[in-house]
Amino acid sequence: ARRLYREKYRPGFHFTSRRGWNNDSNGLVFFKGEWHLYYQHNPYGIKWGNMHWGHAVSEDLVHWKELPIALYPQRFGDWCFSGSAVVDVDNTGGFQEGGEPAIVVAYTSTGRGECIAYSNDRGRTFAEFEGNPVVEHKGRDPKVIWYEPGGHWVMALYHEVDDKRTIAFYTSKDLKAWEFASLIDGFYECPELFELAVDGDAGNRKWVLHAADGDYMVGAFDGRVFTPESGKHKFSHGNCFYASQTYSGVPAEDGRRIQIAWGRVEMPGMPFNQMMLFPVELTLRTTGEGVRLAARPVREIERLHETSRSWEDLTVPMGRNPIPGVEGELLHIRAALRTDGVEKLGFVIRGTEVVYDVGEQRLACLDKTAPVSPVEGVLRLELLVDRTSIEIFANDGRVYMPMGATLPDDNKSIQILAEGGPAGIESLEVHALRSIWP
Ligand code: FRU
Repeated sequence: ARRLYREKYRPGFHFTSRRGWNNDSNGLVFFKGEWHLYYQHNPYGIKWGNMHWGHAVSEDLVHWKELPIALYPQRFGDWCFSGSAVVDVDNTGGFQEGGEPAIVVAYTSTGRGECIAYSNDRGRTFAEFEGNPVVEHKGRDPKVIWYEPGGHWVMALYHEVDDKRTIAFYTSKDLKAWEFASLIDGFYECPELFELAVDGDAGNRKWVLHAADGDYMVGAFDGRVFTPESGKHKFSHGNCFYASQTYSGVPAEDGRRIQIAWGRVEMPGMPFNQMMLFPVELTLRTTGEGVRLAARPVREIERLHETSRSWEDLTVPMGRNPIPGVEGELLHIRAALRTDGVEKLGFVIRGTEVVYDVGEQRLACLDKTAPVSPVEGVLRLELLVDRTSIEIFANDGRVYMPMGATLPDDNKSIQILAEGGPAGIESLEVHALRSIWP
């Protein structure tokens, strides 16, 4: 216990559970100043199994406090699989007991079906709705949202019809009685559905639909049927992204669409396993190829900046060039790299390369690559470096590449790499981050 949060590979600014295993983020909801993060949790081992809902809260999306388990299986073998949470502001379900609205969760009970549970103590403990299960079908992972224009709830579910993988939509007025509305083919577990303003224009809004791999369709949603306006686009180019969710209950004056994903990263020899990826803000942007999602780390990352250094108009001769005196373990790096006159350029972060091939127009890290085009001769890179991950954001988040990577604890070097010519760097910021743990 004395080493808690000081273990060798404990991520410094990513949520991990104190002990045991985590997978999917569940029930992401903001309520009364708290960002709730529930998650698929095995409290009894470092492998997947014994699914409970673990629970943590944060006041700033950065510092997390782990609380007692929120959902327990009712009996052995009836596990609490993934689901979502909403604040029932109008008390449509009648679950409210005091002066504050109830937090209502929908989750998969593997023994019973899709279930509803509610909390009147700010998400600490939950009571089961006595009419559970509310939907019985072959599938799982209810994502519930409030559909404002229709004044009703929508539940998106992973749903199997024979051997076909689909997302089913159900609707409800009270979170208790659910009616089947429609199906869409070609999506696997953990559906997610939300609306975003294109280029921030409130008059031009589109819906995004995706499942656990994050690959998404952009389209229209009328409260019952999703009508795609495009095929699927790739969201994550990394090696560890899975089963993300976005927050409900975000106040209008904030207005952000914030996502947390499970980071599928094996922790070497630790008493805990897996992690959450850093929260990202999602936006829809018009690009040369059409309307696409972009993901950027939430601005609250800046609260962790401890020491900051910045440079402008640097010229880096060929080879691997240490930036004198710059090293670190937990880092936030922002760079604008000029791509003309170079073949390859990028960083070597604690021994791991994040390198852009100018001819191929591909960004590479470990065994993953992503297509990226420079904008007016400049490649913008943003990196979040922790003990077991490097999250890469290129071109202001148009390309998102979260990478699980165990970085050697004895290598804290940061180098700039240039091949085929000297590299020009328009601007570079390197921020050393403080840990979020007590
Ligand atoms: C996705 C998933 C979900 C399921 C949960 C079980 O990673 O398989 O479909 O609800 O994990 O832990």
